Amino acid sequence: MELFLRSRKFEMIRTTFCILVVFALAGIPVMESRPKTQAGIKYSALNCRKHRAVITDFGAVGDGKTSNTKAFREAIIKLSPMAADGGVQLIVPPGKWLTGSFNLTSHFTLFIQKGAILLASQDESEYPVVPPLPSYGRGRDAPGPRFASLISGTNLTDVIITGNNGTINGQGKYWWAKFKSGGFKSITRPYLIEILFSNNLQISNVTLINSPSWHIHPVYSNNVIVKGVTILAPIDSPNTDGINPDSCTNTLIEDCYIVSGDDCIAVKSGWDEYGIKFAMPTQQLSIRRLTCISPDSAGVALGSEMSGGIKDVRIEDTTLIQTQSAIRIKTAVGRGGYVKDIFARRLTMKTMKYVFWMSGAYNQHVDDKWDPKALPVVTNINYRDMTAENVTIAARLEGIKKDPFTGICMSNVSISLAPKAKKLQWNCTDIAGVTSKVTPKPCSLLPEKEKPVDCAFPEDKIPIESVVMKKCIA
Ligand SMILES: *[C@@H]1O[C@H](CO)[C@@H](O)[C@H](O)[C@H]1NC(C)=O
Ligand SMILES: *[C@@H]1O[C@H](CO)[C@@H](O)[C@H](O)[C@H]1NC(C)=O
Ligand SMILES: *[C@@H]1O[C@H](CO)[C@@H](O)[C@H](O)[C@H]1NC(C)=O
Ligand SMILES: *[C@@H]1O[C@H](CO)[C@@H](O)[C@H](O)[C@H]1NC(C)=O
Ligand SMILES: *[C@@H]1O[C@H](CO)[C@@H](O)[C@H](O)[C@H]1NC(C)=O
Ligand SMILES: *[C@@H]1O[C@H](CO)[C@@H](O)[C@H](O)[C@H]1NC(C)=O
Ligand SMILES: *[C@@H]1O[C@H](CO)[C@@H](O)[C@H](O)[C@H]1NC(C)=O
Repeated sequence: MELFLRSRKFEMIRTTFCILVVFALAGIPVMESRPKTQAGIKYSALNCRKHRAVITDFGAVGDGKTSNTKAFREAIIKLSPMAADGGVQLIVPPGKWLTGSFNLTSHFTLFIQKGAILLASQDESEYPVVPPLPSYGRGRDAPGPRFASLISGTNLTDVIITGNNGTINGQGKYWWAKFKSGGFKSITRPYLIEILFSNNLQISNVTLINSPSWHIHPVYSNNVIVKGVTILAPIDSPNTDGINPDSCTNTLIEDCYIVSGDDCIAVKSGWDEYGIKFAMPTQQLSIRRLTCISPDSAGVALGSEMSGGIKDVRIEDTTLIQTQSAIRIKTAVGRGGYVKDIFARRLTMKTMKYVFWMSGAYNQHVDDKWDPKALPVVTNINYRDMTAENVTIAARLEGIKKDPFTGICMSNVSISLAPKAKKLQWNCTDIAGVTSKVTPKPCSLLPEKEKPVDCAFPEDKIPIESVVMKKCIA
């Protein structure tokens, strides 16, 4: 039994040993048979691992019916000492692995092979109930606690969830139906992946489908990479956001493809008085080469929970198709905090309700204790070099009375309208800024600069963009 905790060297010795045994016992059936694990796949990662194990070593059965919750939980407990000694990789081989919620550990890679599907249990008792996030004060669905996410982690460092496009399937149908019929009155639905208070997190080369609610939720964490991830959920599924960086610093999201029932990416930092008190912003966030389809929501939403502040967000080389709006700022009186230093360029859009949308009256509150004097600051918002086709309304920009959104800059933006476009193309209130080479003609609150300008986009990089990944073997 100790053999499953093996280093690469042990693996070689063991293999050689097995071959000798097989020769010696030729003719006698082999006792232990292990599913093929396609060892030898090269992948890139923040860190490589000294030890490896396969989930079947812990009694898991990949038949799509047997619960493997115990196997996953035991695997993490038993592998933790190895993880502390040079890191460990847990391989999920081809098969359907039904499981409830489990926690990860540090210096750990969960490698989901091609053909492997992690199936999230629909049995609520397989999800521990955890307290609300301190920056939210309650669960997002209901006042009170939350079901733990399928894959969770707290206080970790150096965690990787990757594979060669294996799948994590949230089997959301059960949760969506119960949510829609008002069944979650005191506990909030689980997310697919939620990592709290952690550093150096990588999620790459996996497909996530049908989460009960949000798909990827890094919160209170630093140095996060989400790369090469496909996220798919029905366009009418409730709250199935793609990726939600929440009170995180130094995050890179790139080469992702998202189709969802809610925002493809929703940048957050806590809700009303709880978020103001917790005061942890999302900052240094770079999003690039995203493809998004979301007919009822945004490509990138900033808010509506932004009470800890959102600043220094860069969005580029992104394609949005059949999406309600490209970038949407959502806030309200009572939120406090700020959304500032936002930069976007080279967005290509097709079939959009709105290109630009800012909402200053997103009046969903945690409770009735929100502070009416807590006004959000929205300023220095820069959009440039964009084209959009088949657009119903170019812009709906609604600031807050006596708290206008300022420093808005838009340049080199060409919007062509849908056959059934609305008459009022720029609907602007309580905002201020400038435009340059934008068609159709913007509202009077965004006057055209006489001398053409290019809106700002930072020339420096955020630190995580310069990280060089290592070549590892699964
Ligand atoms: C993703 O997969 C590609 C090939 O399929 C591989 O070259 C690359 O190293 C992987 N990247 C990450 C970050 O896992
Ligand atoms: C995961 O960790 C959280 C926080 O420590 C805990 O509340 C939860 O019970 C753990 N989950 C499992 C399955 O052990
Ligand atoms: C995380 O770390 C904090 C601060 O050290 C500690 O209070 C908390 O109990 C830890 N939580 C878990 C689940 O490890
Ligand atoms: C990964 O799988 C998804 C779902 O099957 C597919 O849409 C996507 O193209 C695949 N990605 C890669 C890189 O093979
Ligand atoms: C244009 O947008 C409308 C919805 O506003 C949609 O029904 C139609 O299919 C789109 N046309 C093209 C050519 O994509
Ligand atoms: C204007 O934006 C388009 C992309 O929409 C880009 O190809 C072009 O180079 C930009 N023009 C200038 C002058 O920057
Ligand atoms: C303009 O925007 C305001 C506030 O967002 C909205 O109430 C109003 O209906 C819009 N007007 C039109 C003509 O779309």
